[in-house]
Amino acid sequence: EKGGFPHFMLKEIHQQPHAIADTFAGRLAAGTLQQELGIGTDEARAIRRIDMIACGTSWHSALIGRRLFEEFAGIPASAEIASEYRYRPRPTEEGTYALAITQSGETADTIAALRATREAGARTGAICNVVGSTVAREADGVLYTRAGPEISVASTKAFTTQVTALLLMALTLGRLRGRLDPARAGQLSEALVKAPEKIAGLLGRMAAPLQALAREKANSNDFLYLGRGYGYPLALEGALKLKEISYIHAEGYPSGELKHGPIALISKGLPVVAIAPNDSLRDKVLSNLEEVKARDGTVIAVGTEGDADLASLADHAVWIPPVEPAIVPLYASLPLQLFAYFMAVERGCDVDQPRNLAKSVTVE
Ligand code: F6R
Repeated sequence: EKGGFPHFMLKEIHQQPHAIADTFAGRLAAGTLQQELGIGTDEARAIRRIDMIACGTSWHSALIGRRLFEEFAGIPASAEIASEYRYRPRPTEEGTYALAITQSGETADTIAALRATREAGARTGAICNVVGSTVAREADGVLYTRAGPEISVASTKAFTTQVTALLLMALTLGRLRGRLDPARAGQLSEALVKAPEKIAGLLGRMAAPLQALAREKANSNDFLYLGRGYGYPLALEGALKLKEISYIHAEGYPSGELKHGPIALISKGLPVVAIAPNDSLRDKVLSNLEEVKARDGTVIAVGTEGDADLASLADHAVWIPPVEPAIVPLYASLPLQLFAYFMAVERGCDVDQPRNLAKSVTVE
């Protein structure tokens, strides 16, 4: 059942090219997504804010979604941790669209937060993987991620398919609201359609070097993950994967926060994983990395092929092809997942069933 892979997690990492393709299949044509979500055109135009509700890895998708909705649809958006949101006094605002993001559809806090927003009068939607789950049944509309069953406790394909679904939604809303011209929407769709094949190639190329890197770093007990823009949620996600399955202390930070505290942690050899693709914030991440190097930290970079400055700064680097910044999360999450996986294997951890964790958190 593991399809020749030693663990479900590795199998699921490799299923991502297919899973992403399944997520966008048949949904790029105008109108299809609206139908699934049950949002009429007038309604889509009347949305004034999107509150995304999620936990864990799904919350990291929400952080990416926030940027996608604001960038492509011009809709103010927030990424809310469900356990906080459900207990926060909120002024209700007309035109609020509450979007639950959940692989299982059974996370107790996400369900409760979704119910609270419905009661407050918000229109609700869900991005969910499990057909017929509680969230899928209770939301006004559902966009299924079609990732297939995710067995490994650590989420991988659920994450990248959620990001794909969010991108589809942002493009749809951007077009309906006249925010995104058809040519630009076409470019982004095309970049998305090309992703599965390129990602499959990348997975093949990256595995061996990342395994070697994990061997080298297997005894490191602290990691810092840094990124900006779309890279910030990826830093959080990379750190979460590492702690969940290899039990190594890891912190994810927006790299602009480095000076505001975490730089004090940097000492000789501290591994700093930097997500530094070639986007508008790349120069700023590089200057943060110079500060890391000045303090003898070890830089492990995820960057764009051909970035000579980053290559000279980094002690180790993994390269992704040049792609649209909004699509980068689909590529850059792969080395982070694979690295966490190999670290856990090197340390003899139970990859698919990490201690203390359950696949779906059905109690508060
Ligand atoms: C991380 C992980 C958890 C889940 C979280 C939300 O690898 O698996 O952080 O992402 O418990 O679960 P869902 O998406 O089912 O609501």
